[in-house]
Amino acid sequence: MEKISIDDVELHLSAPDDVSMSWIGQEDLVTQVLAAWLVIGEDDLPLSPRLLGKPGVGKTTLAYHAGRCLTRSVYLFQATMDTRPEDLIVTPVISEQGKIKYVASPVVSAMIKGGVAIIDEGNRMSEKSWASLAPLLDSRRYVESIVAGIKIKAHPNFRFCTTMNDDASTFELPEYIHSRLQPQIYIDFPERDEELLILKSNLPFADNEILEYVVEFLQTAHEANERYSVRDGINIARYALKRLVESGERLISTDRKKRTAQYLKEASSMILDTTASEYFKAMINDIDREK
Ligand SMILES: Nc1ncnc2c1ncn2[C@@H]1O[C@H](COP(=O)(O)OP(=O)(O)OP(=O)(O)O)[C@@H](O)[C@H]1O
Ligand SMILES: [Mg+2]
Repeated sequence: MEKISIDDVELHLSAPDDVSMSWIGQEDLVTQVLAAWLVIGEDDLPLSPRLLGKPGVGKTTLAYHAGRCLTRSVYLFQATMDTRPEDLIVTPVISEQGKIKYVASPVVSAMIKGGVAIIDEGNRMSEKSWASLAPLLDSRRYVESIVAGIKIKAHPNFRFCTTMNDDASTFELPEYIHSRLQPQIYIDFPERDEELLILKSNLPFADNEILEYVVEFLQTAHEANERYSVRDGINIARYALKRLVESGERLISTDRKKRTAQYLKEASSMILDTTASEYFKAMINDIDREK
């Protein structure tokens, strides 16, 4: 663990995240995040955007990808209901011979190294936790660690963003927090051609047929205002593919088509619900009619 010293207090830094997430399509959304982070003059400050959208629509992927576009280290912090203010800043840990070691959170590590901090699913943590970041997210750009007794200033290259989910298990945050997490960038479902590319890049080993079926399902579902997302599509295709391979059957092409649709129907009822499996039932009927 890298160590640095602030006001004679030794801080152990968290390592950045190096994951394989890359954003496909909807380039304008990446540009919106990068514009928010831009500093255009000496007295200017970067903004800290809030990425919103339905579950599984790609919020975390977009945030991480945008961070990597800056060619800076990206630090992900997963917010939960139990996240405490010190988890976001500095936590004391007992080390050898009972000595206390101060460990900087991913956010503080990004602040020190001039990296990008992403608080993922930010509205799963309470106002109390967000309050500890209030000075970081305005012109002060610092945090205070009560446990270590130090004030930590952000490097000029430090950038911040958060993703937020729209579901029942989240906190309603007060205005003074929301006003620091601007602009709001809303992620919508992708168009058909982009959705197909996303599926292809996540499942490079899948044949086109299965991906076309899943895109057809997702696009029909988006039009009908269902909540099914790219992630659901990826999971359904992944499981149906495993079933096809596991069955090891050598099928002639029309049978394979039908069997693929049957496995997709099964996967969608196991991963989603009966409404989803109805879409694939209709596909099976179409295949039967084609014969
Ligand atoms: N535009 C995209 N480019 C590449 N992959 C994408 C895109 N959109 C979605 N995905 C894929 O969909 C899955 C879900 O994406 P992600 O986890 O970023 O969604 P999320 O909105 O953060 O979900 P949650 O609401 O559960 O936090 C991932 O496997 C990701 O690779
Ligand atoms: Mg996410």
